[in-house]
Amino acid sequence: MDTHTPYDDVFYPTGIHQSVTVDRLYVMGKILGVKPTPIETATVLEIGCGDGMHILPHAWRHPQSKVVGLDYASTNITKAVECKSHLSIDNIEFICADIQDFTYSDYKFDYIIVHGLYAWVHDSIKEAILLKCKEHLSENGICVVSYNTMPGGHIRLMTREIMRFHTQQFSTTKDKVREARAMIYFLAKANSGMQSAYKYILQEELKRIASYPDAAFIHDDLGEIYTPISFTDFINHASKHSLTYLGEADFVEMNDEMPNEEITQVFKNLHKGDLLQKEQYMDYLRYRRFRQTMLVHDHTDLKRVIDSCFLDSLFISINLTTETPTLIYDNSVVQFKDESGKGMGTDSPLVKAALVTVSAQYPKRFNTKEIVEMANKTLGLEESPTDLTTVQSVLLKMYYADLIEVYAERAEISIDTEKPKLWEYAKQLLELRLNIPTQNNVMYHVEGNVEREFLKLCDGTAHFRENVEAISSLISSRELDWQKDEDVEEFLLKSIKACKKSGLLSN
Ligand SMILES: C[S@@+](CC[C@H](N)C(=O)[O-])C[C@H]1O[C@@H](n2cnc3c(N)ncnc32)[C@H](O)[C@@H]1O
Repeated sequence: MDTHTPYDDVFYPTGIHQSVTVDRLYVMGKILGVKPTPIETATVLEIGCGDGMHILPHAWRHPQSKVVGLDYASTNITKAVECKSHLSIDNIEFICADIQDFTYSDYKFDYIIVHGLYAWVHDSIKEAILLKCKEHLSENGICVVSYNTMPGGHIRLMTREIMRFHTQQFSTTKDKVREARAMIYFLAKANSGMQSAYKYILQEELKRIASYPDAAFIHDDLGEIYTPISFTDFINHASKHSLTYLGEADFVEMNDEMPNEEITQVFKNLHKGDLLQKEQYMDYLRYRRFRQTMLVHDHTDLKRVIDSCFLDSLFISINLTTETPTLIYDNSVVQFKDESGKGMGTDSPLVKAALVTVSAQYPKRFNTKEIVEMANKTLGLEESPTDLTTVQSVLLKMYYADLIEVYAERAEISIDTEKPKLWEYAKQLLELRLNIPTQNNVMYHVEGNVEREFLKLCDGTAHFRENVEAISSLISSRELDWQKDEDVEEFLLKSIKACKKSGLLSN
């Protein structure tokens, strides 16, 4: 494609987005009962794939799958193709085309991903996105479209309007980015002594834009188009293309627990059991600003009964702590919490033992049968016939509350930091870039050359200490530059712990 796009002018930093990976869509498809295609052999399309960082790991892991990435910015596609050939991945194809012109015969995809696009394009392109999703979705296929929604989207519209007005007078991208942030900073500061809602809104927006990378900020906040849409309008648009609502890709976003019985009752009276009404009212209740909505063909048989036995074929990792790990053997209530402070309490020795044992091996993943076996082994008990259903039903509730992680596959995750081995995909990618995806489908930022060279040495043969010594001698001989005040060994110890936690180590 010859057309020059805004994404050719300023490169948009693409990454992997855990909640819209094929793995996640499979998990949610299983939980919501729509017979998703096994991910190993699935066909996958990403519309607006950027430089391919989101889908390349899937293609690398699953050589039997077929993956297609489409983007209209040739700079992005050039980078994606470079990466594909560097990693020698044959089962992925990158196409440089506008979605409006995309044709792929009558080929069907089991998973279609459209992330970070719908809210930022003209109506004709929105139309093309859903049209192509419908045309190319396989019978049991799932597509996910992310979009900015209301009422939260109104707030971003407001600051965007202010920033765009103010930055009209600046011509370079660099000046616009700096001045846009400075404007919101100024408004937040000027209002800091006021007792108004505006003060809090500005503070919240300031926090959001401060953490946004410049290159994404210029497109997402200062770009020509930004059109958040209500859930109802989005679903109406999808239904025009004979696509229907399956659910949200983040299970917790479907969680409709209310603070008390009175609110639960009023809420029920509002939606009267209608799922779409319920989701719309939930947006008002939760002040939602972003959705990652999964769609399926409108003739799909949707039972919408969530049965915990769906967890049978899935893999779970748990990262919870407790201050009273020794109280797992009796019926005392033990509180568990995650790193954000969210938590739960339970008096079931089986559940307590499961949570302690699996958490000790985070981020390793286990199926529910293994979890029950491990828990009973910890308790020194024989397995009883109801153990599996007990544990599965608690784990399903915990997933709904965002307290555990659930995956479609086990992955080759290791927690060995003595003789660490970096995941091969990440190791190969390190030659090209410092932002690398992990097996947990999150991005890991390598801090610089010292960490990069250290991680490249982590091949599972040498001891951590030997690798530290190798790096220290490269620093002493000035082959590597170390400018930080921090002790290099401490830095590398932190690095290896962070790699372990994010699923970067493999067997
Ligand atoms: C905001 S970025 C999102 C990239 C990636 N999906 C992510 O979420 O990180 C939007 C991407 O869509 C591409 N894009 C925008 N309009 C497009 C169109 N009409 N057809 C194909 N790609 C388009 C851009 O080039 C850019 O790479």
